[in-house]
Amino acid sequence: MAFVTFPKGFEWGAATAAYQIEGAHREDGRGLSIWDVFCQQPGRVMGGDSGEVACDHYHRYRDDVALMKRLCLQTYRFSVSWPRVQPFGAGEPNEKGLGFYSRLVDELLAAGIKPCLTLYHWDLPQALQDRGGWADRDTAQRFAEYAQIVFAQLGDRVTRFVTHNEPMITAILGHRVGLLAPGIRDLRITGRAIHHLLLSHGLAVAAYRASGRRGEIGITNANTSYEPADASPESLRACELARDFDTRTWHGPVYGRGYPESVLRYYAERGAALPIEGDDLKAIAAPTDFLGVNLYSRQRVLADASRGVGFRDAPPTLPVLPMGYEAAPFALGDFLRFVSAEYGRPRIYVTENGVCDNTAPGADGRVDDVQRIELLRGFLAGMHAAIADGSADVRAYYVWSLLDNFEWAFGNSKRFGIVWTDFATQARIPKASAAFFSDVIRRNGVEI
Ligand code: GCO
Repeated sequence: MAFVTFPKGFEWGAATAAYQIEGAHREDGRGLSIWDVFCQQPGRVMGGDSGEVACDHYHRYRDDVALMKRLCLQTYRFSVSWPRVQPFGAGEPNEKGLGFYSRLVDELLAAGIKPCLTLYHWDLPQALQDRGGWADRDTAQRFAEYAQIVFAQLGDRVTRFVTHNEPMITAILGHRVGLLAPGIRDLRITGRAIHHLLLSHGLAVAAYRASGRRGEIGITNANTSYEPADASPESLRACELARDFDTRTWHGPVYGRGYPESVLRYYAERGAALPIEGDDLKAIAAPTDFLGVNLYSRQRVLADASRGVGFRDAPPTLPVLPMGYEAAPFALGDFLRFVSAEYGRPRIYVTENGVCDNTAPGADGRVDDVQRIELLRGFLAGMHAAIADGSADVRAYYVWSLLDNFEWAFGNSKRFGIVWTDFATQARIPKASAAFFSDVIRRNGVEI
C-alpha cells in the first residue's frame, strides 16, 4: 500500500442530524416536526422506531463532544431542529431551544472543534406542514426568517452554514414517493416543493449576507455518480437524463443555470409545472461560498421509454450493501470530478460519505467493522486522486456518521456510525473504523 497525504489544512470531521440523534422530542418547548408525526403513523418506520429518544444527544452532548475530541475530529457537522427554535415555524424564538445549540457550539469551540451548522435536515415544523409545507411558497419566507434567528444567535461563533441537507430527498422521497416525511405522493406538490426548497436556500443565503456575518454558506445536495450501463447512444442519453433529474435540477439553479429543460418539460406536461415567479431564479443563484457533496454510491442507468423520465436503474454488478446500493468506493472521486467540471470547480466540502455496516460488538466488546474501513479507504483514495490531479477543490471531509443513529424509514436498523450506539443503554463504543479515522486525521493521509 502507498500512503497518500491530503493538502495542508484539509479538515476532517463527522456529521449528524438533529432528528437522528437528539431525542428529547418534547423537551424545553420543542414543537412537533413532520418526522414526529410521520413516525406515529403505523407502518411508516421499520420496527416502529422514531427519533423520540434516538441517541439522547440532547442530554449527552457534553460526553459526545468529549468523544469527538478523543477521536481527533477537527470539525463537526450537525443540524438545528427548526421546531426547537420556532415550535410553530414562525414568530419569536424559543430561548430554551436556542440555548441548547448555544451550549453545544460553546462545547465544540472549547474542544477545538469547528462547528458546521445545517439549518434544515428534514425536520419541518408540523405547524407549517399543516399550512401546506414546502408546497406553500410562504414556507420559503418562513425558512429565511428562521435562518435569520440562527445567524443572529449563533453566527457570532459559527462560521460555516449549510442551508439545506439534500433538498432532493425531501422533495422526491417526501412528496413524490412518500417514503419519508411528510409521506405525500403527488407530482404537483412535488414540483412545488422542488422550487420552494431551492427558493428558500437562496433567501437564506441573502439573509446571511444581510446579517453582516463574515462566515461561509452553501448548500448540500444528495448525489449519486451516474454511469451509462453500456456505450450505446441510448444509455449515454439515459445517463444524462439521470443527471438532469438528480444532479442538475439541484445544482443548476444554485449556479445560475436554471432548471434542465428535460425536467421543466416533464413536470409541465403532467400539470405540475414548477411554480417559478419573477426573480426567483436570480434569488436561488445567490453566490455561495462552497458546495456540500453527499455521496454513498454509483448507479448505472439504462434507457427506458416506458418511464416518463426516460431512464431506469440497471441491475448491480458490484456487491450490494445493506442500504441496497452498490459498494462502489470509486464513485466519490468520479462524482467530485463530474460536479467540479460541470459547475466551475467550486470549493467543495464532502459533507457526508460513509458506509452502512451493521457489524455488532464481538465477545470481546470490540466492533470490528472491517468492511466500513476498507470502503472508506477506497472513498478517500478517490477523493485524494481528484484533489491531487487538480480536478476538484475539496477542503474538508465529514464521515457519516459520528454515531449509529435513527436512519429515517429504516429506523435504528441501519448503522452508519464510526461509534456503536447501544440504543437500550445509550452506551457509545468506538468501532475499529473510529481508530482508522482518527489515524487518518492525525496523519492527514491514508494508506491506499
Ligand atoms: C442522507 C441523509 C442522512 C442519512 C445518511 C445515511 O444522506 O440520506 O443526509 O440523514 O442518514 O445519508 O443514509
